[in-house]
Amino acid sequence: MTPADHLAPVFAQYPIEVTDAQGVWLHTKDNRRVLDLYGGHAVAALGYKHEAWTQAVTAQANACNFQSNAVPMAVRVRAATKLIRFSGSHFDSVFFVNSGAEANENALRMAFKMTRRTGIVAIEGAFHGRTAAAGAITWGAEKKWYEFPRAPFDVSYIPRRDLKAIVHQVCAETAAVIVEPVQGVGGAFDMGTEFLSALRARCTAVGALLIFDEVQIGMGRSGHPFAANLYGVLPDMITTAKALGNGFPCGALLMSPEVTASLKLEGLGTTFGGGPMACAAIEAVIDAIENEDLMTNVRRVAQYIRDTCTVGPVIGHQGAGFLHGLKTSQPAKEIQALLLERNILTGTSGDPNVVRLLPPYILKEKHVDLLREALQSI
Ligand SMILES: Cc1ncc(COP(=O)(O)O)c(C=O)c1O
Repeated sequence: MTPADHLAPVFAQYPIEVTDAQGVWLHTKDNRRVLDLYGGHAVAALGYKHEAWTQAVTAQANACNFQSNAVPMAVRVRAATKLIRFSGSHFDSVFFVNSGAEANENALRMAFKMTRRTGIVAIEGAFHGRTAAAGAITWGAEKKWYEFPRAPFDVSYIPRRDLKAIVHQVCAETAAVIVEPVQGVGGAFDMGTEFLSALRARCTAVGALLIFDEVQIGMGRSGHPFAANLYGVLPDMITTAKALGNGFPCGALLMSPEVTASLKLEGLGTTFGGGPMACAAIEAVIDAIENEDLMTNVRRVAQYIRDTCTVGPVIGHQGAGFLHGLKTSQPAKEIQALLLERNILTGTSGDPNVVRLLPPYILKEKHVDLLREALQSI
């Protein structure tokens, strides 16, 4: 990125330029073939040039590229119905939006509307997005980039997996607790069943809502439809985005029957959310995950990474499924750069000693072998 690009200079740039991609491989301007273990920040769930997804989006573009939510469209109903069924049917309505932050923003709105309380409890290390409300519950945002003069509501944080703090902080003023069941930016950090169950119990006891932010871990990435299914803990709302559209911008808020019952006409709104192109993409993603048995693949290959990749600078593993953290003995940034020199793209996180892997769900053992060999050579 140079000033001549006219792009806002806010993103550090990887030293590769992608011109084309296929499967789990990126092709660069200087003719390199790079194994993508980062999937565009957890977005490219089906990888690149996925035939059925491309066909679905193309067919919808040819049929009707846009009509608003006020105009009934079968593709929108199909996407919502499939998403609810995919989630295990505890939820009964979906509000489609455009991004993860927007899904969280609306989940918080519903919690305030239902409880008429003033506070949100979030978790240390959390990342929930960049808008005024989502940024206000993002750990460390205030010091780094928040910039708004004040948070729009009271916020407090509890340390990760701290069971005692739950009882102290989740109280009669709490409208909702929001938690990433597996933190992404926080370093592929898995909250565990005990902590999530304790949050569920405390929220129920004090009449607060429980929101799972599954923007990064949701949509099959954990090897289960949602981490809620993986841990067997049911929140009142789930937010999701990223993998949901495989690159077509979209997000969704899944609501339990109780939350749905509190909705009224015009209580929520959006222009682009639930647009037919996004819905065609969502439907194709769910179909592909199910038809190609991709969650089984995620579970098997994630286990293979754990079993075979404690080599070179890697001293341990954390996370769940394909939100995988390689714990490193050297700074993660250095390992990331050395892997990219060896044609493997990975990510870092808020934890300076975790290399984050967010690969497409089609990744196979043979690709993990390439990662292991590269790690061994460091
Ligand atoms: C857990 C989580 N929540 C919310 C967001 C914000 O999503 P978006 O960038 O689509 O607004 C992210 C983005 O990284 C995320 O990882």
